[in-house]
Amino acid sequence: MRVEDGRLLLDGIPLTELARRYGTPLYVYDAATLRSRARAYRDAFAAEAPARVAYSAKACALLGVLRALRPVSVSAASLGELEAAVRAGIPASRCWLHGNAKTDEEIRGARALGVGRIVIDGEREHERIARAVRGAPQRVWLRVSPDVVAETHAHLRTSGDQKFGVLTVGRGRALVREISNTRGLRFVGVHAHVGSQIADLDTFRRVAAWLASFARQLRDEGVPLQEVCVGGGLAVAETATSDPDLTAYARAVAAPVHDALPDATVIVEPGRSMVARSAVALYSVQDRKVRASGRVFLAVDGGMGDNIRPALYGARYLAALAERGDGATEHVTIAGAFCEAGDVLIEDAELPRAESGDLVVVPGVGAYSVAMASQYNHRPRPAVVLVDHGRARLIRRRERTADLFRLEGAVSR
Ligand code: LLP
Repeated sequence: MRVEDGRLLLDGIPLTELARRYGTPLYVYDAATLRSRARAYRDAFAAEAPARVAYSAKACALLGVLRALRPVSVSAASLGELEAAVRAGIPASRCWLHGNAKTDEEIRGARALGVGRIVIDGEREHERIARAVRGAPQRVWLRVSPDVVAETHAHLRTSGDQKFGVLTVGRGRALVREISNTRGLRFVGVHAHVGSQIADLDTFRRVAAWLASFARQLRDEGVPLQEVCVGGGLAVAETATSDPDLTAYARAVAAPVHDALPDATVIVEPGRSMVARSAVALYSVQDRKVRASGRVFLAVDGGMGDNIRPALYGARYLAALAERGDGATEHVTIAGAFCEAGDVLIEDAELPRAESGDLVVVPGVGAYSVAMASQYNHRPRPAVVLVDHGRARLIRRRERTADLFRLEGAVSR
């Protein structure tokens, strides 16, 4: 984003112009940022070869976004995400499906698409996968739960006493033996993911070392595994203006694995740190209220329906005005349009005085905003635009009121 004549521009296009053309609330992804992020990840890990990078599509599985990330693989949390990767031109053979409660339908669907790996995360899941196999064996990993507790929001922690992965080394080893003896399955690796929004590289180092030691034990028992996936989780503060250092991260996760198993492939599956900084949200100010306390509320036309993260995780974003960005500033609370007191996008923003009709820009919203959007209050979900080489293209049209009733229309009265 840059400023020209007091206006904010993305890829050379004034944000006010995009709001005029497509309406608000509007999400705008920048293709150049997505491509450069995928390249930066690949370069950082290529230096630590052998390694592989997959994008965790749960952060944003829009086809227009996946297309810009085509050079990397995809880690899918559902059949829908896997299907999105395939539709975006990423072969299923380069993707994997994980999840702690996969249905038989999902397993069969993933097989039919030709998924590269399935991450086993259940006591008897291997039997269900084996039943879905006709023809070539299915490559599988086992998700384990390393004894490493991540420093992050409680909702974002996935190690310790929680639902993911196999919880003890002993059970893991026994399960790997069972999987290896199951017809139709080929056990090729181990997988872990201890949480999201983790800033401390030492956590990743410890996860990688834990996995490497587990993998080493399996090798010593004669299991020929080749792949060690350390998950995703690298933090990006919503208020950051630069990306986390991928070289240091790549080294932190690759070194412990290569020390224990020099020929193993180290795999990462970042979501947030791939896409967070590639999008901005645009909202129109609808109203301005000054409370007796002096607190100023700006009410905008979006909120928790398109970005639940402030309400759910206490995420704190920055804001700017798309034009008239100079002059004296004031502290404001940017409130959403949803009928809940907790629908506050930004508690404490510093903005030039804004009035109805002004355009508020919230950067750093590329991860887990559109992906978690809902139709709460029967408010249609926003449109999404991709800017690329100075041109804007709608990649998801705005929902219309009629869309809200589409599925109910099919039900007889
Ligand atoms: N791998 C697995 C198995 C995961 O479950 C996740 C995220 C990732 C990779 C990617 O993690 P990342 O690099 O994005 O941190 N809705 C929350 C985030 C939930 C993350 C769930 N799993 C948020 O808005 O902050």
